[in-house]
This record gives sequence, structure tokens and C-alpha cells, in this order.
Amino acid sequence: METNSYFYLLDLQTMLPFLKNKCFALDLGNNNTLLTDENQVLFSQPSIIAFDEGSGSVQAIGEEAFTIFEKNHSLLKTVKPLQWGVIADYNSASLMLNKIVKQVHHHSWFSRFDHIISGVPYYATEVERRALRDVLDQFNSKKRQLMVEPLAAALGMGMNIREPEGKMVVDIGGGITEIVIISLSDVVVFKSVKVAGNTFTMDIQDHFRRNHNLSIGWKTAEQIKIQAGAATHLIESPPAPAIAKGKDIMEGIPSTRTVSHSEIAFALDKSIKAIEDSIIQTLEVCPPELAADIYQNGIHLTGGGALLQGMKERLQKSIQLEIHLDSAPLLAVSKGISSVLREPKKYQAVLLD
Ligand SMILES: Nc1ncnc2c1ncn2[C@@H]1O[C@H](COP(=O)(O)OP(=O)(O)OP(=O)(O)O)[C@@H](O)[C@H]1O
Ligand SMILES: [Mg+2]
Repeated sequence: METNSYFYLLDLQTMLPFLKNKCFALDLGNNNTLLTDENQVLFSQPSIIAFDEGSGSVQAIGEEAFTIFEKNHSLLKTVKPLQWGVIADYNSASLMLNKIVKQVHHHSWFSRFDHIISGVPYYATEVERRALRDVLDQFNSKKRQLMVEPLAAALGMGMNIREPEGKMVVDIGGGITEIVIISLSDVVVFKSVKVAGNTFTMDIQDHFRRNHNLSIGWKTAEQIKIQAGAATHLIESPPAPAIAKGKDIMEGIPSTRTVSHSEIAFALDKSIKAIEDSIIQTLEVCPPELAADIYQNGIHLTGGGALLQGMKERLQKSIQLEIHLDSAPLLAVSKGISSVLREPKKYQAVLLD
């Protein structure tokens, strides 16, 4: 009798997909949110939400909200719920995730989640982790777990984190850079610095304001960074100069300036130096046996900020170790969490409640 009803349920689940057990892996990043299942990316868009100022209702999330950002009128408000990689605005984060999950899973009262795993920055405090857990608990999943992002990034880059061998991962995200040395499925040495992709963008805005009397928007600065940005002026095939469109501070009228990659490299120098110093400080406190492994294996570089042209070459020169640049730095953390979702028993040691 019991066996029959079990098969009946299985059969029903095949016919009616909304009855299937569901799970998801989440990388709630400072700039980008990625939601995956065990195998594929289901959502990858900017971490931003737009509200109607009057009613407080959600008008848009992700890409759609990002197009409104900096171009909104007074009745629309855009919010980036994360700052420095952790939840800064609980309600906005909760609503944004609710909309994302509904969009992806067509979540309704009879669908339920079996397992949710979310990344969390290693440096996040217990209070910040609790805020993330509370945001996730709205989905009433049977199991809800966290894992630290640098370990997820290492798995996402295909590294074997379980062996007794020192491995160094540097994740230059949007809000923070996390530097870790991993051995035996755990973090042995760690350093986090609040300098990452967003700092580079702000440096570019600052540079134009100070040196060109030009005020440029966030999106323009991002575009310049991606098109013509560089970590060093010494790069093999330099990108073409970019044209910055903004507002002349003195005249108060729209204006443009042309900028080369070496000028951007100059503007970003101080921030990149801060990342270099943090890597060196992490190596300095590394136990000798693990240091020997890192000398042998080099440093694994990931996160969107690592895509800045010449970053690998600059770090290689200043740190004098081999730098391995991830082939898909924007995906490493979500790929890692997704692989844990696929084989939770194998990776039990990295999962946190
Ligand atoms: N081609 C590129 N060149 C330079 N920077 C880039 C490029 N592509 C993306 N970025 C930068 O990568 C950053 C986002 O990276 P990522 O998605 O890893 O961050 P995040 O996970 O959202 O943030 P965090 O890890 O701090 O929570 C942004 O600052 C973005 O401008
Ligand atoms: Mg990240």
C-alpha cells in the first residue's frame, strides 16, 4: 500500500512539474546575483531593485532596474541592497530575492524547496549571516545552508579543496576582495579588503572630476573601466582610448573627454596597490608548509574585478608568483555552490547552518 502511494506520488511529480522538489544555489553578490540549480545558471543579473516611491511597490529588479538606475525620476527609487558584499538593506534584499525566485521557479503555494545553499563572504559577521539566513527562510526550505564564498570560488575553478595542500584564492568582486589560503576543506589564512571593482569605478569618476573637471555617471565610469580600463600601462595589446561623456563642472554643460588606458591605470594605481599589499600580507602570515605549496602552485585569481585588463600581469610582476586567471571569473562562486548542491554529502565539511 505504502509502496503504491510512493510510486503514485513519483508519477504525479513527473506529470506535474510544479510538485517536484526544488533546490537552488545562490550567489547574492554586491553587484550581481546568480541563481543556479545543480547544473545550470537560472538567473544572472545586477543586484538592484526599483520601487515606486509613493506606494512602495516593486517596479523592477535586475537588468530592468539597472536600466532605470541614475535615470529615474523622483517617483521611482532604485536600491542596491548589498554593500561590501553583505546585506545592507534587509527589506530590499528580501523583496529582490523573492521576485527572483518567483521569476525562476514560478513559486506557488504548493511548490516547496528541499535544499537552498547560499554563498556568504568569509568576513561576514554573525549578524550579517543571520540577516542572510532570515532572507532565505522566507522560502521555507527543508534544508537551508550557507557556505563561504572563497571556498565556493575555489570549487568553481575546479580546485580540489579537500587535499592537504595550500591553495591561494583571490576573489576581486564588486564590493570586496577576499584573499584566502585553503587546505583540507577550510580556510587557514584570510584577509578581506573593501577595495574591488566598485572602488575602481569610483576612482575613475574621481579622476575625471579632479583632473578633467568632468562629472560622469556610474554607468559611464563602468563602461570606461571595461572598455579602456587597465591595471598597468604595460599591456601587450592596449585597448583603444574611450570617450567619456558627462557634465563639465565649471561650465555646467554636457561635455566629453578622451581617455587612454594608461591614464585609467594611473587612476586605479592606489586601489590595485591596496589589493597587492593585502595579498603580500596574507602570504607573510601563511604557515611555511602551505607557503611552499603556494610557491609551487601559484595564486588563483577570480571575481569580476579580475577581468580588468593587465591585472594578471601586474600581480604576477609585483608578487613574483604565477597567477592563474579563472576562465569565467563572474561565475566561479555560483559554479562552486552549484557543485555542492549536486553532491552535498561529499562537501558536508564546507556547509554551515
Ligand atoms: N571586463 C571587465 N573589466 C573590468 N571589470 C569588470 C569586467 N567585467 C566585470 N567587471 C567588474 O566586476 C565587478 C563585479 O564582479 P562580481 O560579479 O564578481 O562581484 P559580486 O560577486 O557581485 O561582488 P562581491 O563578490 O563583492 O559581493 C564589477 O565591479 C564590474 O565592474
Ligand atoms: Mg562575489
